[in-house]
Amino acid sequence: MSYAKYGPWAVIAGGSEGVGAEFARLLAGAGVNLVLVARKPGPLAATASDCRRLGVEVRTLATDLVDPSAVHAVVAETVGLEVGLFVYNAGANTCSAEFLDADLTDFQRVIDLNITTMVALVQHFGRAMRDRRRGGILLVGSMSGYLGSVRHTVYGGVKAYSRIFAEGLWLELRDSGVDVLELVLGVTRTPAMQRVGLNFDVPGMRVADPADVAREGLDQLGHGPVYIAGGNADDVARRNDPDRAKVVAGAHRMMQRLMGLK
Ligand SMILES: NC(=O)c1ccc[n+]([C@@H]2O[C@H](COP(=O)([O-])OP(=O)(O)OC[C@H]3O[C@@H](n4cnc5c(N)ncnc54)[C@H](OP(=O)(O)O)[C@@H]3O)[C@@H](O)[C@H]2O)c1
Repeated sequence: MSYAKYGPWAVIAGGSEGVGAEFARLLAGAGVNLVLVARKPGPLAATASDCRRLGVEVRTLATDLVDPSAVHAVVAETVGLEVGLFVYNAGANTCSAEFLDADLTDFQRVIDLNITTMVALVQHFGRAMRDRRRGGILLVGSMSGYLGSVRHTVYGGVKAYSRIFAEGLWLELRDSGVDVLELVLGVTRTPAMQRVGLNFDVPGMRVADPADVAREGLDQLGHGPVYIAGGNADDVARRNDPDRAKVVAGAHRMMQRLMGLK
């Protein structure tokens, strides 16, 4: 399918590596110009030059999206651009301690990265899209947002919020010409996950490829509000079982194997 209808510019928050870089390559291949945002200048420059080779204009912004000044920086970088697609991929669990064992300020950073900055930028770009009566908003979510788990008390909550936010926004914009999608990922072989040392070889664990899930997300953008990528829809359905103790404890055993703890 062609993604050109989401041009002429797309902004990808978290657009330098893994799933974010794959969104960038797919969009560049469709002729959509890009503004890529991430912290590390090296991967940002590498992805930008890959995309320029595909013939599009690319701007980069090296900023930490947890920082309160980041929203202003992104807005300033995009002044005068017609942004037809906003992708918020830059989520992460930056505080993986058990809840009573870390400072609230560290958990606040998880909330700021995954919620505070995300909603501010969605409102900024979404208003202009609604005025133009076209565009797309793609938020990258997680299967963690469907159940509570150890060391994810806050991260699981912010990902649940993202999905609920996307569902409500999709309804509000349903007749406006603006597509909204929460792309729910399961375990995905990204550089960030490789750096934290996830064991991708747990028997029975489905591990997705970043290029595949990015393509699924863009293909499903017009079919919101939620798309479960990577063939995980049955697993998500099981996570909605009303017997919460069974679901939460069962997923916990699988998670421990993934982390190499059992
Ligand atoms: N990978 C998985 O198994 C998995 C599972 C479920 C959900 N997800 C979700 O999928 C999305 C991508 O996850 P990922 O990290 O695995 O993939 P990724 O797409 O490989 O990388 C994340 C991107 O976001 C940027 N980023 C991270 N923190 C940032 C910050 N504070 N400020 C600015 N940019 C930042 C990274 O660059 P810098 O590091 O240079 O800033 C990178 O470009 C996230 O929303 C995550 O919650 C991933």
